Amino acid sequence: MRSKVSVIGAGNVGATCAFRIAEQGYADVVMLDILEGVPQGKALDMLQAAPIIDTDALITGTNDYADTAGSEIVVITSGMPRKPGMSRDDLVKVNADIVKQVTENVVKHSPDCIIILVSNPLDAMVQMALHVSGFPRSRVLGQSGVLDSARFRTFLAQELNVSVEDVFACVLGGHGDTMVPVPRLSTIGGVPITDLLSQERIDAIVERTVKGGAEIVALLKTGSAYYAPGTAAAQMVDAILLDRKKILPTATRLEGEYGINNIVVGVPAKLGKAGIEQVMEIQLTSEESASLKKSADAVQALNTVMGI
Ligand code: NAI
Ligand code: 2OP
Repeated sequence: MRSKVSVIGAGNVGATCAFRIAEQGYADVVMLDILEGVPQGKALDMLQAAPIIDTDALITGTNDYADTAGSEIVVITSGMPRKPGMSRDDLVKVNADIVKQVTENVVKHSPDCIIILVSNPLDAMVQMALHVSGFPRSRVLGQSGVLDSARFRTFLAQELNVSVEDVFACVLGGHGDTMVPVPRLSTIGGVPITDLLSQERIDAIVERTVKGGAEIVALLKTGSAYYAPGTAAAQMVDAILLDRKKILPTATRLEGEYGINNIVVGVPAKLGKAGIEQVMEIQLTSEESASLKKSADAVQALNTVMGI
């Protein structure tokens, strides 16, 4: 029997994520949106691709949470994307209300599910979903670091003319301007990039990574990135549903790790059937640790704005 995954928000990120999950064939996918006809139409379109990509997974679209009942994983992508000139943090008020209302409905219909947040500002939205659901931190997590580290990996592979597969990149912290790419722990075929690139080139690549979302917003003009974000969320679904015990950068509520308490930021975590099965603690330099704390402070400021 196939698993059941629901994706809330059938916009650019939600639809991309839903299609990537359905492509794998091991889960039926329900897409829900407030727009009537949009999730249904996109689902029907995807379903008609199934014979071509050879999957029997069922994809349905709905406006009714009853259809999401009993989901093992729910991915929340509903909310406004940013426009040129907006930071992710500018979205906090409008998206906090949406994520609150969505989480209440999700919990009502799938009380045992694992929730993966994608809506921005990401870390604050994870914090809101944790607050509303009352779920343990193992079952409420956020996608940001898979995307940010994929951007870092892409730029490093281009710079050094190597396969992306051979590049490991470490990005910690919140999904915002204070994110913390860590060159010291980023490697090409096991060799630290600090041995392969000048400080000047590393700084330029780090800067491009931190501004990776804004670069795409400036080009698109009407919204933000979605192919890589949707694919990143689907990879987290895969790690959990298939109990892969994969170490992925994950937005999670730290409970003393890294000297941070009760604030959601991105750190490496082991993902398996139970959701977050282990938060990995890396030994950081004092400078890296200070950058991570600064990032956590920026998330805490948004929690204060949301009143949680
Ligand atoms: P989009 O505008 O294409 O889709 C958003 C969808 O949410 C729309 O279809 C809208 O009707 C729906 N929606 C709004 N309120 C809803 C509600 N109460 N219940 C159900 N659905 C509702 O936006 P896009 O590009 O898909 O982005 C979605 C969110 O993901 C944004 O907040 C964006 O900033 C964020 N994002 C996060 C990334 C990350 O790495 N964490 C990366 C890219 C985007
Ligand atoms: C991104 O990083 C906007 O969070 C979105 O592309």
